Amino acid sequence: MPGAIYAEGLVKTFGDVRALDGVDLDVPEGTVLGLLGPNGAGKTTAVRCLTTLLRPDSGRLQVAGLDVLKHPNEVRRSIGLSGQFAAVDEYLTGRENLQMVGQLYQMRARPAKARAEELLEQFDLTEAADRTARTYSGGMRRRLDLAAALVVSPPVMFMDEPTTGLDPRNRQLLWDVIKRLVSGGTTLLLTTQYLEEADHLAHDIAVVDHGKVIARGTSDELKARTGGERIEVVVHEREQISVAREVLAGFGKGETTVEEHTRCLTVPVTGGAKLLAEVIRELDTRGIEMDDIGLRRPTLDDVFLSLTGHMAEEKAEEKAEEKAEGNGDRQGQDRSKGRQKGKEATV
Ligand SMILES: Nc1ncnc2c1ncn2[C@@H]1O[C@H](COP(=O)(O)OP(=O)(O)OP(=O)(O)O)[C@@H](O)[C@H]1O
Ligand SMILES: [Mg+2]
Repeated sequence: MPGAIYAEGLVKTFGDVRALDGVDLDVPEGTVLGLLGPNGAGKTTAVRCLTTLLRPDSGRLQVAGLDVLKHPNEVRRSIGLSGQFAAVDEYLTGRENLQMVGQLYQMRARPAKARAEELLEQFDLTEAADRTARTYSGGMRRRLDLAAALVVSPPVMFMDEPTTGLDPRNRQLLWDVIKRLVSGGTTLLLTTQYLEEADHLAHDIAVVDHGKVIARGTSDELKARTGGERIEVVVHEREQISVAREVLAGFGKGETTVEEHTRCLTVPVTGGAKLLAEVIRELDTRGIEMDDIGLRRPTLDDVFLSLTGHMAEEKAEEKAEEKAEGNGDRQGQDRSKGRQKGKEATV
């Protein structure tokens, strides 16, 4: 039986861009699916199709046991959505925004008010509750938008990059809220750029790129597939990076990655502590001073790198470079976020 969120052969094109190219997803009831992928991979498009905001070209979609294409109104009543761009009313206060959502869901005035208070408290917005949302900082808007998605407790939730722009404390706060929701039985599809977030919250992860699911599994399964440990070295001087890279290449079982600004080099290895000792000796012999060196298990970042060819955090820089070079990008897709800046309704 399909899960609470189900997609089969989902295709959506925009002109000659195939934003979704046959995506299959199945999220069992009461679990969290983390949808990971670089900019332009198709995450938001998938969320918009599943939440009735976009009509796919083809595919079978089911949410909360309902056919999304045949029964969009019923689906809307069963889901909550927090879109990638906050959809709060700028001219209402935080409190009014939340009360309005309650009323849209036909809650009576008193319970709507009580629920608004509860959420303001939970999202640390009580002090700002009587200010209009246009005076809110980016992170405050994000929190208000998330609170709005939680006014009623729908059985199925979609959150598109819910913690982008939140500081670490507020990210933690949201993680706690999400964990509580899921332990109460909610099914959640979450897109995120933060692999740590998927690691923490998602039971299953689907990695998408170019509109296709290129890998799926639990965080541990994906890490195991990436294989082996990593040696990570931080060299003392930037000038020593190229020699250190040469040394690591001699021991590694894959490509060495370098983060210039942190002077950190990473290479996949097999051979554990014994090999680590050899690497240290060789770096020493070559006169390379190290601030830090160690062996670690693969992270989801490594998974991402081996699947998509680049690190999650590199994407922003990469995008800026692509723009500067003015050469568009692969398959001529415009991966900029600006395109979809239209408001997404919080249904
Ligand atoms: N309304 C639209 N019109 C034209 N092209 C679109 C539209 N919406 C999305 N696209 C294109 O579809 C592709 C997938 O976009 P989507 O927004 O789903 O990516 P994403 O994975 O959410 O990316 P990000 O991480 O930047 O949010 C991109 O190439 C994008 O430019
Ligand atoms: Mg998106």
